[in-house]
Amino acid sequence: MRRRPASPLLWQPDGVRPSALDDLRPLVPGRVLGVTGAPGAGKSTFATRLAAEWGAVVVPMDGFHCADVELRRRGLLDRKGVPDSFDAEGLAALLRRVRDREELVLAPAFERDLEQPLAGALPVPCDADLVVVEGSYLLLDQPRWRAVRALLDGVWHLRLPQDVRRRRLLARHVEFGKDPATAEAWVSRVDDPNAALVEAAAERADLVLDLPG
Ligand SMILES: Nc1ncnc2c1ncn2[C@@H]1O[C@H](COP(=O)(O)OP(=O)(O)OP(=O)(O)O)[C@@H](O)[C@H]1O
Ligand SMILES: [Mg+2]
Repeated sequence: MRRRPASPLLWQPDGVRPSALDDLRPLVPGRVLGVTGAPGAGKSTFATRLAAEWGAVVVPMDGFHCADVELRRRGLLDRKGVPDSFDAEGLAALLRRVRDREELVLAPAFERDLEQPLAGALPVPCDADLVVVEGSYLLLDQPRWRAVRALLDGVWHLRLPQDVRRRRLLARHVEFGKDPATAEAWVSRVDDPNAALVEAAAERADLVLDLPG
C-alpha cells in the first residue's frame, strides 16, 4: 500500500470550472478510494458525481449504520451517527470482498426516510474500475476504523466552510422531517462533536479538497 504524504495535499477548485474533476482524475490513488468529511460536507453529493462522470461504484458508509434495534441495545438510539453507532467491522468485511473481486458484492444503502440501513441494495461488480467508499469516519484513529482505512487505497477529505456546511446540514434535517428547533438541537448535540472528530482526523488524508461554499 502506498505511503501517505507527511501532510495532505490541498486542492482548491477555481470556482465551478467543469474541468475541475478532470484535474482530480490523475490523483486517484487506486481502485478503492475513500471520501470523507464532516456531516453535511457533501460526501454523498461528490460521490454521486464521481459515479456519473467517472463510472465509479459507490459504497456509502451510511449503509453500515446499525439498525435502531441494535442502537437501542447499545444505548445509542439518541445519538445515531456517532462512530460507535456504525458496524465498522461489517464495512471492513465488505471491503475485503470487494478487494478480493468477489463476483457480486451487495452493499447496504441508507434509507433517509426510514433512517435505517437497507441490506442488499447496491451491487458492486467485480469488474468495477473504481469503487468510492464515502463516509465520515474512514480516517478515525481507532482500531476498528484503522482496519477500514487499511482496505482503502487512499482517502480524500472534503472540507466546506463551517457555516455553509452547518446550514446545509440543518436544511437536510428539516427536509427529512425534523422541525427547525429539533434540527438545531440535534446538530449542536450530535453532529457538531462528530464534525470535530472528523476534522481532527483529516491530517491523515491523502488529499484535502477545500470546496467553496
Ligand atoms: N454544491 C452544493 N450546493 C448546495 N447544496 C449542496 C451542494 N452540495 C451538497 N449540497 C446539499 O448539502 C447537503 C449535504 O450534502 P451531502 O448529503 O452530500 O453531505 P454528506 O457529507 O454526505 O452528509 P452526511 O455526512 O450527513 O451523509 C445535502 O442536502 C445536499 O443536497
Ligand atoms: Mg452522506
